[in-house]
Amino acid sequence: MASLSIEGLDWVLHERGREPRRLLQGVDLQVSRGEFVGLIGPNGSGKTSLLRCAYRANAPAAGRVSLGPDDLWQRNARWCAQRIAVVLQEFPDEFGLSVGDVVAMGRTPHKGLFDGDSAEDARQVVQALAQVGLGEHHERTFATLSGGEKQRVLLARALVQAPELLILDEPTNHLDPRYQLALLQHLRSLGLSILASFHDLNLAAAFCDRLYVIEAGRIVASGTPQQVLTSSLLKQVFGVEALVDPHPLHPYPRITWITRP
Ligand SMILES: Nc1ncnc2c1ncn2[C@@H]1O[C@H](COP(=O)(O)OP(=O)(O)OP(=O)(O)O)[C@@H](O)[C@H]1O
Ligand SMILES: [Mg+2]
Repeated sequence: MASLSIEGLDWVLHERGREPRRLLQGVDLQVSRGEFVGLIGPNGSGKTSLLRCAYRANAPAAGRVSLGPDDLWQRNARWCAQRIAVVLQEFPDEFGLSVGDVVAMGRTPHKGLFDGDSAEDARQVVQALAQVGLGEHHERTFATLSGGEKQRVLLARALVQAPELLILDEPTNHLDPRYQLALLQHLRSLGLSILASFHDLNLAAAFCDRLYVIEAGRIVASGTPQQVLTSSLLKQVFGVEALVDPHPLHPYPRITWITRP
């Protein structure tokens, strides 16, 4: 497992026929070895854009993104794919591939151009599908699965990639409560370095070692869930009133959104 270090990062979006837009500014973010770090912020604040910078999909306009001692942009895409796995917010269109084929794609960065799937690859695919509770679905067509099942298949694909850093964009957004907890507990038990975006702040509080809060492309707060998740910050960033109190069962804060009748 490896640490991720983002220092002084700016990212500028260049769209044809439009002025360039600086969508991330001066971002500093660290994920230590084995740390589970959450990224929270409103819709459109830049979470997905920042995660894309962390896996070498968005090239920085300024600053540096490194995995351990290595600057990602001094390395090629294959080098990154051997070390960083990603589960995205949206599902790729995997055409008619079976669930097993989709998971097996996770092994690709570790193979030569003409290598077929080995018995060891097949074993890892079966094991990863069992880990996400989909051992029976190996032969199913990926496109026919429910949203939550797809999300779990894509997690299995990320796991067979044997990454040092795992990046997840809203990993629980399609999952029912049982699978939300199972997935996050499983992720924690892996001991990987993880950077994940969350909209469910109670899940973020429960599972993350530290949180970063992003607002309009800038990091506005960071620290442990207890340090970061205050009612004044939630009001400032999300514009919503919240009661934040100690969780009755666990050593992290509990957030209750206050709605007016
Ligand atoms: N390729 C792109 N083309 C046009 N606009 C983009 C592109 N990528 C990001 N943006 C814009 O940048 C801003 C940040 O987007 P981003 O997807 O990073 O937000 P987010 O925090 O992930 O939001 P959400 O919570 O809705 O997933 C948004 O205004 C978005 O429309
Ligand atoms: Mg997003």
